[in-house]
Order: sequence, then structure tokens, then C-alpha cells
Amino acid sequence: MSNKTTTISSEQLGRQFHYCDQIAAYWRDRDRVPAAYVETYGCQQNEADSEKLRGYLVQCGYTIQASAEGADVVVMNTCAIREHAEQRVFGNLGALVHTKRRHPGQKIFLCGCMAGESVVWERIRKSYPFVDGVFSTHHLWQFPEILWKVLSLGKRQFFVEDEPGAIAEGIPQVRDDRLKAWVSVMYGCNNFCTYCIVPYVRGRERSRQVEDILAECTSLIQGGCKEITLLGQNVNSYGKDLEEQVDFADLLEKICQIQGDFLIRFMTSHPRDAGKKLFDTMARNPKIAKQLHLPFQSGSSRVLKAMNRHYDREKYLAAVAYAKSVMPDLVLTSDVIVGFPGETEEDFLQTLSLIEQVRYDALFTFIFSPRHGTPAAAMEDPTPKEEKNRRFDRLCALQNQISEQIHRGYVGKTLRCLVDGQEDGGLTARTEGGRLVRFPGDPSLIGGYHMITITGSTTWSLTGQLA
Ligand code: SAH
Ligand code: SF4
Ligand code: F3S
Repeated sequence: MSNKTTTISSEQLGRQFHYCDQIAAYWRDRDRVPAAYVETYGCQQNEADSEKLRGYLVQCGYTIQASAEGADVVVMNTCAIREHAEQRVFGNLGALVHTKRRHPGQKIFLCGCMAGESVVWERIRKSYPFVDGVFSTHHLWQFPEILWKVLSLGKRQFFVEDEPGAIAEGIPQVRDDRLKAWVSVMYGCNNFCTYCIVPYVRGRERSRQVEDILAECTSLIQGGCKEITLLGQNVNSYGKDLEEQVDFADLLEKICQIQGDFLIRFMTSHPRDAGKKLFDTMARNPKIAKQLHLPFQSGSSRVLKAMNRHYDREKYLAAVAYAKSVMPDLVLTSDVIVGFPGETEEDFLQTLSLIEQVRYDALFTFIFSPRHGTPAAAMEDPTPKEEKNRRFDRLCALQNQISEQIHRGYVGKTLRCLVDGQEDGGLTARTEGGRLVRFPGDPSLIGGYHMITITGSTTWSLTGQLA
């Protein structure tokens, strides 16, 4: 198989670094250290992209601050997954008119998944004149160029052409967390689930080279990182576009070979191709967390077909049964959509029964939101909003009960946890399965793995004592 993925060359990236130098000189001439603010919406992919935006900004001489007030550059890295997410962005974007009035030199940019929708950037072009630049995820690697053009030409920039997407290695990153890191293993999505906007705004699936991923993980671990979460919309497709014969399970094996005390997590797995090889690899390797996020979306095979998910209820349940059989302590989480067009009470009951059968530790629950240009947005949807809300409440009530019961089952157990932060005078830690534990302790424990005895539980979290 040939490698169809376009790679941004080092010359192309070198030009971006040249723009960084020009921007840094621009501010030196003005005798000022400029400040920037990046606001992130949406999923871990966007968090990872924001680390690159901040990396570029630091390279351009900006300090990073925690609010838009007084910032010379504001970047809104947006999410398009549901209408509500977009409304929030438009609301917050509207408010920037005032911060810009108080700081007239402020340059405002909108990027991320919303910037990949023509309806969005056309609206910004027309009705948000104070926004200086819009660029889709495909153009993130050109951010210094966009920023320089805005600064030097004083003209709005729209880098929004639709593309299948490329891979750019070597963009600087400013990471949020020393202990835990995101590492993208692939970008884009080819699945075209009928409800989902992601394939339209993030382009086709493309995998990073194994050696680039291994180099990044090695340097993170050598720098003291304890948990790496591998990211992709469907990590199980990893390697399909590479010349090298390698799949996601092989990649996991290779990362496990890196010296050091660390855990690997990953998301998201698509049930269509998460199979025995992946689960056996997880079970065999102590460095892979026994945690799996396996979105099912619906318990009804009829709805799954309408969603274009390429698996049915039976296949999903069989995958979960196998995963649990080889990893008895597996922590399972999932995503589910309520009120997909045409979902009947019967379909919904199948979703409830799947939840009862699998018993997830936690569930991310969404009400269907029609996205412009997706097939599901054009499907007939006779179920009233009130009925969807009722189903949503029934589902949440069931899941809360299950989460609470599962969490109660932790009480009395002693678990190895990564102590990762401070909160309300106490410490926070994560179990291997990713559950949150609050416990009293000295901040010097942060950054290490410690044995914690669980003493209490709620629907969402656990409390404990150092063992
Ligand atoms: N690639 C991941 C999901 C990314 S989006 C996967 O396939 O599992 C995260 C979740 O948002 C999805 O799993 C789905 O449950 C939800 N979602 C996506 N589009 C949606 C829409 N139009 N309305 C409601 N929920 C949606
Ligand atoms: Fe969206 Fe489906 Fe791709 Fe996930 S797999 S990002 S839900 S199209
Ligand atoms: Fe949102 Fe884009 Fe992620 S639409 S969920 S930020 S891939």
C-alpha cells in the first residue's frame, strides 16, 4: 500500500519559523513583550492543537496569559460537534468586541473545527468584522504566516480551503501538564457516521510515522511524564495509510518497550475494528492502562445501521465480553446519543438494556444535534424535543445508579494511583482505570504513583487515604 498522506516539508515549516522571527522582531522594535490567550473548546484533539498554537506563539515572543483581557492575540480554538458548542463559541466571540475596544491592538482569531464549516466562516466574514483571522485545522501549521499577515498588512485573513489534510511534524508545543500528555497518533476520520461533522472539518484519516510517535513519547517520558494518552478519532485505523505494515496494537507494543514507569491510555476506539488483537495486547502489557473508551452510540442495531456505524448490538456486546474476559478489572466508558432521527421507544429501550448489560463506569451522554451538511440532519425526525429530553433523563438516571454502584464497589480496595494535583486543600489522583480519587496528603506526593485505600465514593468520584 502506498503512503498517500501528504507531509509538510521541513522547508515549508522552516518558512513558518521565519514568520515567527519576523513577528518577534516586530515586537522588539516596539519594545514590548506581547501577550496571548488561547481558549480551547471541544475534545482532546483540540487540547493538543492548542498546545501547538501556544508553542508557535511562544516562538513568536508572546507570553501566554489566562484571559482575553489585555491580550495582544486571542485565539478561539473551537468545536463543532453539537449546536450548543457552537452557540457558546458565538456568545463568547461576541463578548470579545468589548475586550478589543479596551485594547484596540488586539488581534482575534477563530480556528478549530468550526472554522472548517463554510456556514461559520461566511457568517464571521459578514457579521463579525472584529475577527482578524479564521483558519481551519488543515491550516494550523501556517498560524505564524496568518498572524504575520494580519500584523503587517492589517488585513483580515481567511485560510479555510477544504483539504484532505496533511501531517506537519516539528511544530513547537507548550504542554499544559508535566505529568500527563496527549500524543496524536493520527488525524482525521473516514467513517462518516451520519450524525457527525468531524470527517468534514478534520479531513481524511492519516497516521503519523511510528518513529515520530516513539520519539515524542520517549522524550516525554524522559522529561518526567507519567501518563500518555494516544489520540485519534478512531485509533484502530492507525497504520492503514502507512507503507509500513503496522497497526494500532503493534504501535502500543512498541511504546511499551520505552524504558520507564508510565501508563499509556488511548482514545477513541471504534467498535467496528477494536478486536481481539488490541484487547490481548492491552491485557499482556502492564504499561497499558486497563481502561477502554468504546462508544456504542445506540443499543439498537436498526439505529446503528442508520448511523452508519458498521457494527450491530451483538457485535458490540461480543467485543465487550471478550475485552472483559481478558481484563477482569477493565474500566469501561462510552458515548451514547439519545434521540437520533427516527429513534423509537423500542430502540431507546434497547439502549437502556445495553447499558444495564455492559454496566459502564461512566457514560458521556448526548442528545442528537443536527449538523449542517450531514446525512442525519436531513432525516425525518418526528420525536418531539420534550420526549427526547425525557429519554435523556431516564438514561442518565440509570447510568448514575450504575456508576454509583460501581464506585461503591471500590470502597476498601487499595489501588496504585498517580497523584496528579491539588484541590480544595487536598490532593487528587487517578486510578489506573482513570477514576478520580480525592485524598488528604502532602503536595510533595504529586507526580508519583502511590497506593491509596478507597474509603468513600460518589457517582462521579472516590475518596481515600494513603495506604
Ligand atoms: N471519534 C469518536 C467520537 C468523537 S465525537 C467516536 O467515533 O467514538 C464524540 C461524541 O460526540 C461521539 O461519540 C458522539 O456520541 C457525540 N456526537 C457526535 N456528533 C453528534 C451529534 N451530531 N449530536 C449529538 N452527539 C454527537
Ligand atoms: Fe465522528 Fe464517527 Fe468519525 Fe467518530 S468515527 S469522529 S463519530 S464520524
Ligand atoms: Fe469538537 Fe472537533 Fe473534537 S468537532 S469534539 S473539537 S474533533
